[in-house]
Amino acid sequence: MLVVSGSSCKHIAEDMAKILNCEHHSLEARRFPDSEGYFRVPEASIEEIRSNPVILVSNTFPDSCIVETLLLLEAIIDVRKGNLADIRGKGIDCEAIGPGIYLAIPYFGYSRQDKRFNQGEAVSARAIGMLLSSKCDGITVLDLHAPEVLENLPVKVSFASSMREIATYLESEIKPDFILSPDKGAIERASFVAETIGCKFSYLEKTRIDAHTIVHKAKDLDVNGAIVTIVDDMISTGGTICRASEALREQGAKAVFAACSHGLFTGGAISKLDQFVDGIIASDSLKNPRSVVSSASALCRGINKLIEK
Ligand code: R5P
Repeated sequence: MLVVSGSSCKHIAEDMAKILNCEHHSLEARRFPDSEGYFRVPEASIEEIRSNPVILVSNTFPDSCIVETLLLLEAIIDVRKGNLADIRGKGIDCEAIGPGIYLAIPYFGYSRQDKRFNQGEAVSARAIGMLLSSKCDGITVLDLHAPEVLENLPVKVSFASSMREIATYLESEIKPDFILSPDKGAIERASFVAETIGCKFSYLEKTRIDAHTIVHKAKDLDVNGAIVTIVDDMISTGGTICRASEALREQGAKAVFAACSHGLFTGGAISKLDQFVDGIIASDSLKNPRSVVSSASALCRGINKLIEK
């Protein structure tokens, strides 16, 4: 086994290699002055990539990382096919080796565009899943918003979750009495965290008016004097968490924390959230100032599931 990465997930790839007890190699991924990407398997990695199953760890966010992931996979495919000769006569083509290219995606961008909400829309999450599956033999995705969208892809797909590690962190650092899911979509993840810690759980019903405006249906929550953590798959503008925190404070919560796998934190979300919550905990699927939980173990579990399938 060999773990490789480009520009987006080196920190996770290095941790995964340690867990899997194998080498990590950095692939070349840089930008031309006009912003187009340049991607290459360095000469020093060719032999290892041809001799081992390879795991590329790469995000599909922001958009430039979709192109990067596809082209890094393309470069790996060529190396494994034995297409090694360049135009300068360096390298010699050799025999192809069999399947064994796996993709580990810490944060799958476009995951929320998982349905045709309005006539004429692209189902973007599925479309990107199809593109990626044309270039690898299996994909594992961390805390995908709605896993159904990647079911029945032409390659094996496994789903991994960092909620186990988030629960462990919360139990040791925050000691919550109550876990809240801010909407129905996060119930499975948040209730898993509550069960793991052994504390109370409830959820809110959320209606999204637009990207920046959400409303929660009023609900009585047993949170008087409680330390509460709101658990979601991702935090983007922070609107969902801020509104949920208001509801909790109104009902007497002593402290409110927010935890998520994917901390996008767009448009000053951290400063906004700091006015509503006592702390924010995120996994390192995306680099941000609140990423305190490693996603590497969860992704390794996902890779092991893929290989066992
Ligand atoms: C949506 O259903 C997701 O699970 C999150 O709740 C949502 O994306 C968070 O977005 P924001 O932070 O902008 O409210």
